[in-house]
Amino acid sequence: MKDEIILYGEKVTKTFGALRAVWEVDFSVRRNEIFGIIGPNGAGKTTLLSMINGTLHVTRGSIHYKGINITNWKPHRIAELGISRTFQIVKPFPGMTLLENVSIGALFGKDKIVNIRKAQERARYVLSRLNLTEKEQAPVETLNVSERKRLELARAMAMDPDLILLDEVMAGSSPADLEKIMELIVELNREGKTILLIEHVMKAIMSISHRIMVLHHGEKIAEDKPENISKNDKVISAYLGSKYVKRSQQNA
Ligand SMILES: Nc1ncnc2c1ncn2[C@@H]1O[C@H](COP(=O)(O)OP(=O)(O)OP(=O)(O)O)[C@@H](O)[C@H]1O
Ligand SMILES: [Mg+2]
Repeated sequence: MKDEIILYGEKVTKTFGALRAVWEVDFSVRRNEIFGIIGPNGAGKTTLLSMINGTLHVTRGSIHYKGINITNWKPHRIAELGISRTFQIVKPFPGMTLLENVSIGALFGKDKIVNIRKAQERARYVLSRLNLTEKEQAPVETLNVSERKRLELARAMAMDPDLILLDEVMAGSSPADLEKIMELIVELNREGKTILLIEHVMKAIMSISHRIMVLHHGEKIAEDKPENISKNDKVISAYLGSKYVKRSQQNA
């Protein structure tokens, strides 16, 4: 159904002592949308994503997915519902190859593949989409930053989620890798996946997101289409800066 809300949060709040990391944020993501989240360092983007997938406890407020209140569910139960994530600080399983790392994603995803050969088949398919086939037997310790970011994405994709939460998967990528990751995200979206995307690479997030939410000091200061976000005074003074606006006007 068009415009159906697949994920929403009401007054989602996370405090660490006196710090309001995320403060009363209302948000809603539509089915098959690419929903971007931007904001300065420390704005609360990763914290919000961690509350959605259950790796961080919600202090107050609620999160709903496909009509189910998933607030403070355990991460594995949320994964089984079809939500997977990447970590900004990459978390490969050490002492294993790339293929083994990605196979684990397949074993713990929505489909709960129990056959190891099937899990590897799925992992190989995903690795090929990320141009990592040649490295499948490489120990994860030997991968560079960009390859580790793609491993995060591969593991999340291997879980075959309906909703993918991506936390700065483009950071540290060469311009060529960046293009490929953007293309892949758009492709996944065309295949029916809903995508929540945190990114500092403005060119990328502005061009592929359908809507963007802006966080600042834990609070939502805007939610709109990218073209309106880049003209929003609050967003310009909190995050984008006038230089960005001049540059994007020149490029327009
Ligand atoms: N486990 C924690 N304990 C205490 N404070 C935390 C914890 N995790 C995050 N914070 C704080 O919460 C705030 C929001 O952090 P968060 O990592 O969500 O920001 P972010 O928007 O993802 O930033 P960045 O763009 O740098 O990744 C920051 O002030 C951070 O220091
Ligand atoms: Mg972050």
